[in-house]
Amino acid sequence: LPPTIRQILSSPEVGETVAVTGWVKSIRKQKRIAFGVLSDGSSAVGLQAVFLDGLGERVKEITNGTSVRVRGSIVKSPGAGQDKELHVEEVEILGTCPPDTYPIQKQALTPEYLRDNTHLRARTDAISAMVRLRGLLMRKLDRYFEHQDFAYAHTPVLTSGDAEGGGEAFRIASIPPSSERPPETEEEREFFARPAYLTVSHQLHLEALSTALTRVYTLSPCFRAERGVTRRHLAEFWMLEAEWGVAPTHDPRTQTAALCDFVEGVVKGVVSDPAIIYGQDVEVLWRHREHDSVPEAERQIRREALASAVTSDAPWPKMTYSEAIRELLKSDQKWTFPIRWGSALQSEHEKWLCETLVGGPLFVTDYPAVIKPFYMRANPLAAGEEEVTVSCFDLLMPYVGELAGGSVREERLDVLKASMESKGMNMDEERYGWYGDLRRFGGAPHVGFGLGFERLVGWVGGIENVRECVPMPRWAGRMVL
Ligand code: 4AD
Ligand code: MG
Repeated sequence: LPPTIRQILSSPEVGETVAVTGWVKSIRKQKRIAFGVLSDGSSAVGLQAVFLDGLGERVKEITNGTSVRVRGSIVKSPGAGQDKELHVEEVEILGTCPPDTYPIQKQALTPEYLRDNTHLRARTDAISAMVRLRGLLMRKLDRYFEHQDFAYAHTPVLTSGDAEGGGEAFRIASIPPSSERPPETEEEREFFARPAYLTVSHQLHLEALSTALTRVYTLSPCFRAERGVTRRHLAEFWMLEAEWGVAPTHDPRTQTAALCDFVEGVVKGVVSDPAIIYGQDVEVLWRHREHDSVPEAERQIRREALASAVTSDAPWPKMTYSEAIRELLKSDQKWTFPIRWGSALQSEHEKWLCETLVGGPLFVTDYPAVIKPFYMRANPLAAGEEEVTVSCFDLLMPYVGELAGGSVREERLDVLKASMESKGMNMDEERYGWYGDLRRFGGAPHVGFGLGFERLVGWVGGIENVRECVPMPRWAGRMVL
């Protein structure tokens, strides 16, 4: 393939003749000369193009958004900013772009407006930078897991149960594609002869693979019918999930601590890569914040805090849920939701813990069993404890909230069975029985976690809303294309 603009800009050859196809990001026309910037999306930086006199009438037709193919020579740029530019010798207009109706104008556009133009919004610098950042993060994550000898696994999207027991699964039905009516026959309703759902998490299937492959991970789409419309929730999102076998111990809390350290290693190892944290795309994302509620100075502080969180050797702090509750009760904050041992931490609490109390990433561990899913390993009761806690963690990030969660998995069949029963699930049912088999047949201690990919993108890019962390977001009431 011919070189992309990124490749042209990063290879030092001056004097070469190149041909590129791209879109005009901007054009400034003078009497005998025009200055344009071309982009093919391969880089955050466009190629400066000088249209010299003699190219004729065609330059007049070029406006912001026009698709062109140009040929010319690469010369040393006299101006500041870029060291190379293209002197255009030939230009062919592939597609004009009427300036009066083109929705992507040069002035600042609000996130809401761009969501209404989802099909065109990748033409803005911030959205295309986000798309490239996703790809970069994905490839670095793959490399990280490959180094740790994990197998990448493709787990199903169609599943027979709600793995989290959160009651947020999308139920699916088979209906003739041309018809928008609700399913009528039993056959339409139950294609698989049982209810089927879009997966909410790949964990249970990864656990099955982990009983043979030991270290497995996936980065896959998950679906949740979240009714609450927030900055952090999508109906379709991607999750990085991993499961692996660990050495047995008497106290699963030590395994939770090691699990937290591993997750911290993944995030630090990947994000601290200079190609990410100091890369052009992250730079663009932190700069392109015209509509951001956060003032420039504050943004700078946040960006530096992010860099130091991933480059510092100091481990991120850990505290138990019970300690977190004590800290919350001690604070003189006015809470909307009351704080009580045994209830879930609300986002205002999580925000205060990591942003105000510790000022950075924070692991909260050992939550009460009653507020966590059935598969988490129960802790032995410590002196003075009355309620059962589970060996788990939530990783809380400033301005993002919960980035990841994971746990030691309950490997004892009888305890697992009782735990399922306490959540209204029956292991003797076919759809759960297989999960019991994983313990029945050569079961071994193992741990795992899930990390929200859009929230990672948001944290790294300083993006306020997860809807700007995926190219085509879906949320309750909205699926534009
Ligand atoms: O905390 P969650 O629900 O945990 C699980 O699903 C476990 N089974 C994961 C595992 O152990 N394998 O989801 C994990 C992460 C959250 O911390 C959050 O970052 C992200 O997934 N997440 C969402 N991201 C965007 N939109 C949503 N609706 C999300 N729900 C969860
Ligand atoms: Mg969670």
